[in-house]
Amino acid sequence: MTIKKDKSENFYDRMNALAKKHKFPGRVIFELTYKCNFQCVHCYIAADKRKKELTTGQVFLILDQLKMAGSFHIWFTGGELLLRKDIFGIFDYAKKCGFRISILTNGSLINKDTAKRIASLGTSLNRVDISVLGTTKKTFEKITGKTGSFERVMKAIKSLKEEGVNVQIKANLLSLNKDEFLGIKKLAERQKCFFGYDTSLIRRTDGSNAPLRYQVELKEAYRIKRLIDSNGGTINEKLFLKLKPNDMGRKKLFHCGVGESEVAINPYGEMNFCLEIHYPEYNILETSFNDCWKRLKKLLGKIEIPEEYQCNVCILVSSCPWCPAKAWLLKRNFFTCEEQSKKIALAEAGFASSKLLI
Ligand SMILES: C[S@@+](CC[C@H](N)C(=O)[O-])C[C@H]1O[C@@H](n2cnc3c(N)ncnc32)[C@H](O)[C@@H]1O
Ligand code: SF4
Ligand code: SF4
Repeated sequence: MTIKKDKSENFYDRMNALAKKHKFPGRVIFELTYKCNFQCVHCYIAADKRKKELTTGQVFLILDQLKMAGSFHIWFTGGELLLRKDIFGIFDYAKKCGFRISILTNGSLINKDTAKRIASLGTSLNRVDISVLGTTKKTFEKITGKTGSFERVMKAIKSLKEEGVNVQIKANLLSLNKDEFLGIKKLAERQKCFFGYDTSLIRRTDGSNAPLRYQVELKEAYRIKRLIDSNGGTINEKLFLKLKPNDMGRKKLFHCGVGESEVAINPYGEMNFCLEIHYPEYNILETSFNDCWKRLKKLLGKIEIPEEYQCNVCILVSSCPWCPAKAWLLKRNFFTCEEQSKKIALAEAGFASSKLLI
């Protein structure tokens, strides 16, 4: 099934292009809390317990400033954002500000009433993304560490669909759910949801390798990826970005819009390059969003690519899923080649061995 873009998609595509051209923060990822009622084995989040999370008033203040800065699409995420008692006040305020709203949640706190409240966001709501990490209670609970999580999430999806909300089921491939992965896609189809998946895991934001213990071996991940992609049905939204095949070497570091049209804000009110790069942690409340955005763009402009930057001359660039966040999580710099990305690049390029590398 090919999903045609509707008029509003084309409008937002044009808005994104404008934001990139004029370097304003069109799209913002806003993490509202790092608290969570699940304890997923693979979770990349590492909260800083010494810091205080934003109050309602502070969230509103930041939303006001985002509006002034020209932002038009806010991706609210966490942690589990529905744990916030003020969450519907925040959604309603974001709607009043005129933002397009996307919600990323584990779904467990959505019941018939909350589904109605989410649906009442109307055309301001882009969609709700819900992570589904298995098709059986046993696997689901093993991953989330929460008894009853499977039933609750299944009910949440049903309630949202009954209210006519666009839902995307998101799945991360883990060693624990690899035998159920195709089933998750089929579940998405049955529930008339979009389906997005990712076969690779990232490190935790404090640099810990813990999530990678659940990484499925590359060959097996490819087998599953082929199975998913050849199975027709709903769209698979590409979760990582690729360069054009005729590119040799990377001409610039970030290709995702960081510092051009996209930015991330964490629950402490700090501005970061993205969800994975917890840097530079500019505190918006100490100055203003605009001041931090200006400083962030300046900082990005000052990052000098060192001569030994391997991607500059690498022939694998067009098939490599690497991005500066991978280097950052590994070595706290933006340049290091990362083994897992290299392996994927080699496999994508059809090379049998890494001897062909520079
Ligand atoms: C951090 S969660 C926040 C939103 C919500 N709590 C949820 O689980 O959907 C956002 C997404 O990141 C995924 N995720 C968590 N840890 C990950 C990791 N180490 N690598 C890749 N994706 C990860 C989750 O499965 C989820 O789909
Ligand atoms: S539900 Fe989301 S935030 Fe919570 S532990 Fe799982 S992946 Fe992390
Ligand atoms: S394989 Fe390594 S050097 Fe080559 S493009 Fe990927 S990250 Fe860069």
